[in-house]
Amino acid sequence: MACSYLDLDCKVYMVKCSYEQKPFRREVMRTYGASVTPSPSETTEVGRKILAEHPGTSGSLGCAISEAVEVATHTEGYRYVLGSVLNQVLLHQSIIGVEAKIAMDKYGIKPDIIIGCAGGGSNLGGLISPFMGEKLRGEADYQFIAVEPASCPSLTRGVFAYDFCDTGMVCPLAKMYTLGSGFIPSANHAGGLRYHGMSSTLSQLYHDGYMEARSVEQTSVFEAAEQFARVEGILPAPESSHAIKVAIDEAMKCKETGEEKTILFGLTGTGYFDMLAYEKFHNNEMTDYIPTDEDLQTGFDGIPKFEGNMV
Ligand SMILES: Cc1ncc(COP(=O)(O)O)c(C=O)c1O
Repeated sequence: MACSYLDLDCKVYMVKCSYEQKPFRREVMRTYGASVTPSPSETTEVGRKILAEHPGTSGSLGCAISEAVEVATHTEGYRYVLGSVLNQVLLHQSIIGVEAKIAMDKYGIKPDIIIGCAGGGSNLGGLISPFMGEKLRGEADYQFIAVEPASCPSLTRGVFAYDFCDTGMVCPLAKMYTLGSGFIPSANHAGGLRYHGMSSTLSQLYHDGYMEARSVEQTSVFEAAEQFARVEGILPAPESSHAIKVAIDEAMKCKETGEEKTILFGLTGTGYFDMLAYEKFHNNEMTDYIPTDEDLQTGFDGIPKFEGNMV
C-alpha cells in the first residue's frame, strides 16, 4: 500500500487472485477512498516485467510489494506501508497478545498451547509476544504453534536463508524461512496466507526450536470454520480458520488422552467478506493443492547464492 496521510489519497496493490476472490474486502477499501489495483498490473515497470515473465499469473504478495514500493518511491508525497512480516507490524499487533495475557491473568488461567495462523507472521507474532517473552526468560513454558496453508508452506517446507522480501527484488534481503521470492502460490487457495516468506523474528524462533509449525489443507480448514461457526455462532475468516483447525485437532487429542489443556488461539478476522470462498466450499467446488518438491525447487533456485547462504 502506498498512502499519503496529507490528502488521504491511498493506492492499494492487492494480489490479483485476492482482488477477484475477495471482492468485499476490495470494496471496503474503496469505500474508504482507496484506489485498488490488482497486482501484478501494467501500471508499474516491475508489474509489466513480472507479467512478461509470468503471463496470466494470479499474483502474490511479493509482486504487490514490489509494485507498491515502486509507486511510493516514484510519486511525490507517497509512503510505502506493509501490513505484515516486518517487526513494527508484529510490535503493533502485540496488543492482541498483551490483552489476551491480561485477560487470562485476571482469571488465573494459563494457556498450555498458543496457536495462530501464519501468513507473514504478524498476528501470530503479536499474539505470542508476551508469552514468548516469559518462555525466553525461563519464567514459564508454553507450546506455540504456527499454522500455514499446505499450498504455501514457508515454515514447514521452506529454507532458512537470506532472500528478497518481494518478487521484483527491490526490497532488502531478510533472513527468513522462504520458498523463494519468485514462488507464486496456487490461485486455488482461497484462504490467504500467501506470502513466500515468514517474519524474520518468527523464523528465528522456529529455527531455534521455540515454536512449532503445521501445514493444513484448505478443505479441512473450511470444515473447521463451519464447525466453529455452528458451535460458536461466529463466522471466522478463512485465514483465522487455519488456527481454528489446529485448535480443534489439539482439543480432540486431549479428549482422547484425557489430558486437560487450555488452548489460546487468534481469531483474526470475520468471514463475512469471504462468502465466495464459503460458497465454493458448500458447493463442493473447493480442492486442495500441495506443491510438489519440483514446484518448490523452482522457487529455491531464485534465492540469492552467496557463501554461507543456505539453499
Ligand atoms: C483475516 C486475516 N488473518 C490473518 C492474516 C495473516 O497475516 P499475518 O500472518 O501477517 O498475521 C491475514 C492476511 O491477510 C488476514 O487477512
